[in-house]
Amino acid sequence: MAKGKASVYFCQNCGFESSKWMGQCPGCKEWNSFVEEVVDRKGNVSASVKKALEEAKTVPLSAVSSANEERTSTDMKELDRVLGGGIVKGSLVLVGGDPGIGKSTLLLQVCKNLSNKNLSVLYISGEESLQQIKIRAERIGTFQDSLELLCETNLDVIKEVISRKKPSVVIVDSIQTMFSDNVGSAPGSVSQVREATSVFMQIAKGLDISIFIVGHVTKEGVVAGPRVLEHMVDTVLYFEGDRHESYRILRGVKNRFGSTNEIGVFEMRNIGLVEVENPSEFMLSGKPVGASGSVVACSMEGTRPILLEIQALVCHTNFGNPRRTATGTDYNRVNLLMAVLEKRLGMRLSECDAYVNIAGGIRMNEPAIDLGIVLAIISSKLDKPINEKTICFGEVGLSGEVRGVSMAEQRVLEAKKLGFERCILPQVCKTGFVHEIKGIELVGVSNVKEALDAIQ
Ligand code: TYD
Ligand code: MG
Repeated sequence: MAKGKASVYFCQNCGFESSKWMGQCPGCKEWNSFVEEVVDRKGNVSASVKKALEEAKTVPLSAVSSANEERTSTDMKELDRVLGGGIVKGSLVLVGGDPGIGKSTLLLQVCKNLSNKNLSVLYISGEESLQQIKIRAERIGTFQDSLELLCETNLDVIKEVISRKKPSVVIVDSIQTMFSDNVGSAPGSVSQVREATSVFMQIAKGLDISIFIVGHVTKEGVVAGPRVLEHMVDTVLYFEGDRHESYRILRGVKNRFGSTNEIGVFEMRNIGLVEVENPSEFMLSGKPVGASGSVVACSMEGTRPILLEIQALVCHTNFGNPRRTATGTDYNRVNLLMAVLEKRLGMRLSECDAYVNIAGGIRMNEPAIDLGIVLAIISSKLDKPINEKTICFGEVGLSGEVRGVSMAEQRVLEAKKLGFERCILPQVCKTGFVHEIKGIELVGVSNVKEALDAIQ
C-alpha cells in the first residue's frame, strides 16, 4: 500500500471506525456492517498546524457583530417554516427520505421558485439524466433560464464548475452518487460520503452559497450509512410519509438557524407537491362517525397543533400471548398504557389483542396523545363510540394519573377552530389559561377513571 494510505474498516450503518474487521459494530450493534475502505492519512501535520497557528486569532464575544443572517424565501411557506424562515446564505441543508418520496420533486420546485426570482440556481444530478429532469420539470411548471442543470458525479469537476459559475443556490441530488478520486472506496461508502459532504461544506462556507444535498435513507430510517452526515451539515430535514398516501411531511431534525420539531405538510399531486396549510383538516378527513375505538387527539409539532385520529381495535385473543401492534406511535408506550388500564381500571386487557393506529399514516410520539390512545382503547373494549365532537389530550402516568402538557391553550383553540365542542384535558391545564376560551366545553380530568367517566 502506498505511503500515507491506510486500510480502515467503517460501519456502513453508523460510520464507526475501526482498524480491524468486527462482526458486530460496538457503536450501533448492527451485525456484518463493517466494510474495508482505504483512507489517505496525510503526513506532516505539524507544518500545517504551524501555518494555521499564525493565522488563528481569538476574538472577544462582544466584538462579534450579531447581524441577522440573510434569508431567501422559497415561496413555499411550509418549507420556509421548517428552515426557520427561509434559506440562509451559505448554509448546507441535508434533505433525507425514502427513495420515491419526493425529494427531487421538492427541490426542483424550490429551483423553480428561486429561478422565477432571478436567482441563479445550479441543479447537480448524479442520478437522473437531463431528459428525466426535463420530464419532471414539465409536470411542475415553467422555469426561467437562471436555473442550470449539470449531470455529474465527480467532485473535483463539480467543485470547479461551482467556483466558476458562483450560483446563489446549489442542489446536489444525491450525496450517495458523488465520488472523489482522492478516496479509494466506492461511491456511497462512508468515506466517500464524508468527503463529499466536507467538500460541499467548504464550498458553502467559502463562497457563501446555499447548498441542499439529498441523502437516501435506509429501511431503519437513518440516512444511508453515514450518520456522520448529520453532524457535518447545518440543517437536517427528513421527508416522510406513506408512499401509498398522498401527503408528505417534512420534518426538521437539526437546524443551526432555527428551531427543530417544526413540520411542513405537503400533498403529492400530478403537478408536484402542493402545500397543505391546514393539516388538521386533512388528517381528520374520512373519520368514521359513530364507530367505537376512534377518538381525536391533539399533538404539537413545534409551534403547531395538529389534530389526528387515533384508532384502536381491541378484541378477544385466541392465543395465550395476546397480539399487540402500534402503527404511527410507540409500541412499548401502547403496551404500557394498556397495563395502566388493566391495573387502575381493572379492565381485562391481558386476554385481548389490541391494534392501535394513528390514521393517515402519520407518526406521532408526543406524550400528549397518551390520553387519546387510552380513550380509544377503552372505547373499543367497551364498544362504546365517543362523540365525534370530542377531542382529548394529556399525558398518562404509571399510576393512572393524567398529567399536564405544554401549550394547552393553543391545542384547545385549534380544536375550537375546527368545530369541536368538547375537550377532555388534564385538570391542571384547565386552570392555567391566560384568556378565557368560550364556545368549547372543557372537561378537566386528573386520572384515567375520570377520563372514563367523561366519555360515558
Ligand atoms: P421523486 O422526487 O423522484 O422522489 P425521490 O427523489 O425522493 O426519490 O418522486 C417521485 C415520485 O413522486 C414518483 O413516484 C412520482 C411522484 N410524482 C407525482 O405523483 N407527481 C408529480 O408531479 C411528480 C413530479 C412526481
Ligand atoms: Mg430523486
